[in-house]
Amino acid sequence: MTSKVLITGAGTGLGLETALTLAERGFNVYASVLDAAQKARVIEEASQHGVTLHAPIMDVTDEAAVQATVEAITATEGAFLGVVHNAGISLRGYFEDCDDDEIRKVFEVNLMGAMVVTRAVLPTMRQAGSGRLIFVSSVGARVASMGRTAYCASKFALEGFAESLMQEITPLGIHVSIVEPAIIKTERWTVHRGIARRAQDPSSPYYAWFQRQEQLADELVRTSPTTPEQVADTIYRALTEQRPRLRYIVGKRARLVITLRRYLPGELFERFYFGEAMKRVTNSG
Ligand SMILES: NC(=O)c1ccc[n+]([C@@H]2O[C@H](COP(=O)([O-])OP(=O)(O)OC[C@H]3O[C@@H](n4cnc5c(N)ncnc54)[C@H](OP(=O)(O)O)[C@@H]3O)[C@@H](O)[C@H]2O)c1
Repeated sequence: MTSKVLITGAGTGLGLETALTLAERGFNVYASVLDAAQKARVIEEASQHGVTLHAPIMDVTDEAAVQATVEAITATEGAFLGVVHNAGISLRGYFEDCDDDEIRKVFEVNLMGAMVVTRAVLPTMRQAGSGRLIFVSSVGARVASMGRTAYCASKFALEGFAESLMQEITPLGIHVSIVEPAIIKTERWTVHRGIARRAQDPSSPYYAWFQRQEQLADELVRTSPTTPEQVADTIYRALTEQRPRLRYIVGKRARLVITLRRYLPGELFERFYFGEAMKRVTNSG
């Protein structure tokens, strides 16, 4: 069986960490990036780690580019063993402060991008009768939070897609896993923070709440015990375990909140967890 894996959005953060980890563990890694500068950086990082990998340039929203990239790789080397759908963008801001265009872009990358790549890789996986699709989701797909309506909606949708798809393709020998990380300090909290344009306008009715929430988020990022290495390790497990799970939670905080949601009666969780979150941001109650 080939050990070839494709990781989308692997120029930075969790994708890059996963690409380096998998290359170190013997996988033939295709770490897709968005531009030539990122490609050069990724190849340089890999050489500093003593590994080699491929870094094709591929925007997951560009259907033709995805199809051509996947075809070029699979035509000569056969089906991918695994595909890690990691590319994702954030949009921070209250719903009324997010333009429809900003929201559409989040869905284009986080949901449609994963669908486009899945469509491109499935035929060869089906022919091979094997393969693993791993979707990097978020704790925000299990417990949504205010000020991130578009992002949480896109990750809920991604999980709905992955869960349905799993039932369609498991009988064909192709496994689907969803990885749900807690907050982790990566570029997404700095250069890729993705703040909605109107969220920064002091005349927004949500401005004060948003500012407060950004401070709280920064504190969570600063104190987060979860690391990119844990995500990379989890993806390695999902690629190599004999019976991969549908869901993998990464990080203590994510596990705690998802466990609370699972075991507390719905209304109790909603009243206390969401009530507390609203109170902390709005200073109400
Ligand atoms: N860090 C966290 O706290 C956290 C928590 C839960 C889930 N996640 C999820 O983990 C994944 C990786 O996030 P991260 O923290 O590593 O953030 P990141 O460093 O911002 O990584 C996201 C990557 O996706 C790429 N990307 C954006 N649009 C793309 C497109 N159209 N086509 C291909 N690639 C594209 C970005 O490229 P550019 O650099 O060129 O923009 C970037 O390299 C995301 O799906 C995110 O939602 C992160």
